[in-house]
Amino acid sequence: MNEQFREYIDHHIDRFREELFVLLRIPSISTDPDHRADMYRAAEYLEQQLVRAGLSETTIYDTEGHPILFGQTVQKQNRPTVLIYGHYDVQPPDPLEKWTSPPFDPTLRDGRVYARGASDDKGQSYTHFKAVEAWMESGEELPVNIKFLIEGEEEIGSPNLIPFIHEHLDLLSCDMVLVSDTAMFGEDQPSITYGLRGLAYMEVEVEGPNRDLHSGVYGGAVANPANMLSRMIARLQDEHGKILIDGFYDRVKPLTDSERDLYKNLPFDESAYKAELDVSELFGEKGYSTLERSSARPSLDVNGLWSGYQGKGAKTVLPSSAGAKISMRLVPDQDPHEIAQLFSEHFSRLAPPGVKVTVHEHHGGHPVLIDPDFYGIKAAAEAFEVVYEKDVLYSREGGSIPIIADFQKLLGAPSILMGFGLTRDALHSPDESFSLKDFYRGIRTSAEFFKRLDR
Ligand code: BES
Ligand code: MN
Ligand code: MN
Repeated sequence: MNEQFREYIDHHIDRFREELFVLLRIPSISTDPDHRADMYRAAEYLEQQLVRAGLSETTIYDTEGHPILFGQTVQKQNRPTVLIYGHYDVQPPDPLEKWTSPPFDPTLRDGRVYARGASDDKGQSYTHFKAVEAWMESGEELPVNIKFLIEGEEEIGSPNLIPFIHEHLDLLSCDMVLVSDTAMFGEDQPSITYGLRGLAYMEVEVEGPNRDLHSGVYGGAVANPANMLSRMIARLQDEHGKILIDGFYDRVKPLTDSERDLYKNLPFDESAYKAELDVSELFGEKGYSTLERSSARPSLDVNGLWSGYQGKGAKTVLPSSAGAKISMRLVPDQDPHEIAQLFSEHFSRLAPPGVKVTVHEHHGGHPVLIDPDFYGIKAAAEAFEVVYEKDVLYSREGGSIPIIADFQKLLGAPSILMGFGLTRDALHSPDESFSLKDFYRGIRTSAEFFKRLDR
């Protein structure tokens, strides 16, 4: 029987969990310069784990930002090559006081591990380290070539990974990319994500008088930047959230009838969705369902907003400036830079006389759609079905993984988005968690996937 890798996983599962806990204790927050040393610690720990898994070659590449970890097995001719992509960086844990247990002290409650990065993406990406180890160390011949590419800048838009890929096209050449950094459709319901939204992220500032003013002495006579900014933001969308920026929808691929049918058949429970968020009504573009709005249609959201007096009590002040961070989630074939440009022009036109407006473009990412008929996707679906004993669903998701489009463009390789997370994992939120059961099933699914590529 060709099943040694399965026994190996069962036998070593407690150690796998302990190793994940070590990784989760490293506060590898990519956006915070104070954590530079932690980024190296995380990359080095994972490099040790690649060696542990039996890879013949591992390297940590320095970049202008955070290090990139690469590793590969001895390459065999005529075998497919799978590039496993993941990220060891995490989002800041703020607000700290909202965590039940500290974000970098992984804690088990009810079969879930609570820690920043538990699901996004340390816990999910680590499944592949252990699946490869199980094949390599159990004495079976891994039927595929494996390459690992693990970066530390996904949460800040992968600025150094794109040039890295350009410089290492041969090293990274592969038949497909395997990524576990998305969510399943629901608990015990495996799914393959075949689309992700892109992102354009803007920061705007409205400046008025040269200092904060007395709102009694000057109010009504001088344009208030906070009032003006609110008006400008309100004019970016209609009352249902449709975006009013000129040209914004020009490149949006409409949903096809067959895809809309597929969406209708997904087992989505709208009242559970509302209950989970404690909202009484949902909101969004007319003529589209909640799932369509949150994954196949673009959106625009204020992510941060500041101006004037924020302290306790009341201070009468007419602020001299106001600012906001605004993100736009994009769908095929929108282009992040083009959208940023359209936003800048439109936003500047909305400015009333008497204020100065500046617009700055932060990181972004391209949207993607992946052909579900690709043979790697079929193998992933079979692997899921063996482990979860349930048919997989196919869905698009609203989040972004900026580098996926570049894998397609630069390496010609489709990505297999084999997510083991759940929306209840609370990515980027306080009390992020990951189900240990899905960590274990993830390891098994990954290992079964490699077996099913052997044809
Ligand atoms: N893993 C997420 C993306 C994701 C989450 C995809 C849930 C599908 C479902 C990733 O780490 C992430 O947070 N991406 C950022 C990208 C940005 C910072 C460039 C995002 O979507 O905000
Ligand atoms: Mn992620
Ligand atoms: Mn994330």
